[in-house]
Amino acid sequence: MNNLERKRRHIDVALEQQPARNCFDSIRLRHRALPNVSLKEITLDTEFFGKTAAAPFFVSSMTGGPSESERINRHLAEACNELGIAMGVGSQRIAMQEGSVSGLTWSVRNAVGARPLFANFGAVNLPQLNAIQDLGRILDSIEADALILHLNPMQEVFQTNGDTDWTNIIDHIAQVCAWSPVPVVVKEVGFGLDVQSAKELASIGINVLDVAGMGGTRFADIEIALNAEIRQTLSTDNVFDHWGYTTIESLGMIKKELPTMTCWASGGIRNGLDVAKSMCLGASAVGIAGKLLRPATESTDAVIIALRQFMSELRISCFGLGVRSSIGLSRSHILGNVDAD
Ligand SMILES: Cc1cc2nc3c(=O)[nH]c(=O)nc-3n(C[C@H](O)[C@H](O)[C@H](O)COP(=O)(O)O)c2cc1C
Repeated sequence: MNNLERKRRHIDVALEQQPARNCFDSIRLRHRALPNVSLKEITLDTEFFGKTAAAPFFVSSMTGGPSESERINRHLAEACNELGIAMGVGSQRIAMQEGSVSGLTWSVRNAVGARPLFANFGAVNLPQLNAIQDLGRILDSIEADALILHLNPMQEVFQTNGDTDWTNIIDHIAQVCAWSPVPVVVKEVGFGLDVQSAKELASIGINVLDVAGMGGTRFADIEIALNAEIRQTLSTDNVFDHWGYTTIESLGMIKKELPTMTCWASGGIRNGLDVAKSMCLGASAVGIAGKLLRPATESTDAVIIALRQFMSELRISCFGLGVRSSIGLSRSHILGNVDAD
């Protein structure tokens, strides 16, 4: 199976995957019986790298390659433009390698308008670039406001010919940081960032860490489902089902050790209440991927409906907590001790 075909199959498997329950169910927020706010006046506005957005959540990177993804990205981008939401595209490696046959050749920037838009590239693929400056092509093609580098060792390891040499990848990320004309974000893809990696990334000047923890899309499952060869090397298909950190664990650990680091939360965000909980735990923005995949395969309107639900649930959460702006959500709004989660 080539890379293009594999990316297409990811979408099919991911669509079947979204678990109903996850770590966010263990958190309760402090209800206010006398909130002293008006629902109408609650604001969700925020900024991504100097650009305003209508909500503190964004569409997390999903797909940047095959032509099916062109439809998906168009629906996502048009919906983001309509509502004023930020968006990340999926990995642009195939687009960079194969040019016009591989999606993102149409202008996602035109569809998303002036909204914040983030480029995406796999950190493990950086050593294969002729020069770091080649990344300029993927930034320019979408007039990116930031560059997201993803870390996915436990995805690559289950792929035939996956990239499993991660030696010195941190040095390549440092080179990107030193060169990049836009802010650099580093994210996981659903296994969560750990504290040691977060500290190394902070020390080389990464602007934002997106924890992308366990709780939603599970790439070990996806790759194992697509790879008969790898299945023969495993006793059961689900050995690595619980590998990684939940979004809550990852965010909690990193905020404790690196309190001033800007952290985004993603992984298993199902609704606006999960967004509110993530912000109470210290995330300055929240990414949503798997939950938007089905509406994105359908239409722009379906994505708009889903995003409006997120906005409405987040606004109601703020109301119930007595908070005028989602930026005001903090740990003090959490009921009980979540450090053990
Ligand atoms: C179909 C699909 C494709 C994805 N492709 C990428 C990608 O190309 N680059 C990336 O950084 N993350 C990618 N992700 C990971 C998401 O951005 C996100 O980190 C992860 O799915 C966890 O969030 P979720 O539980 O809301 O899905 C992909 C996710 C899905 C569902």
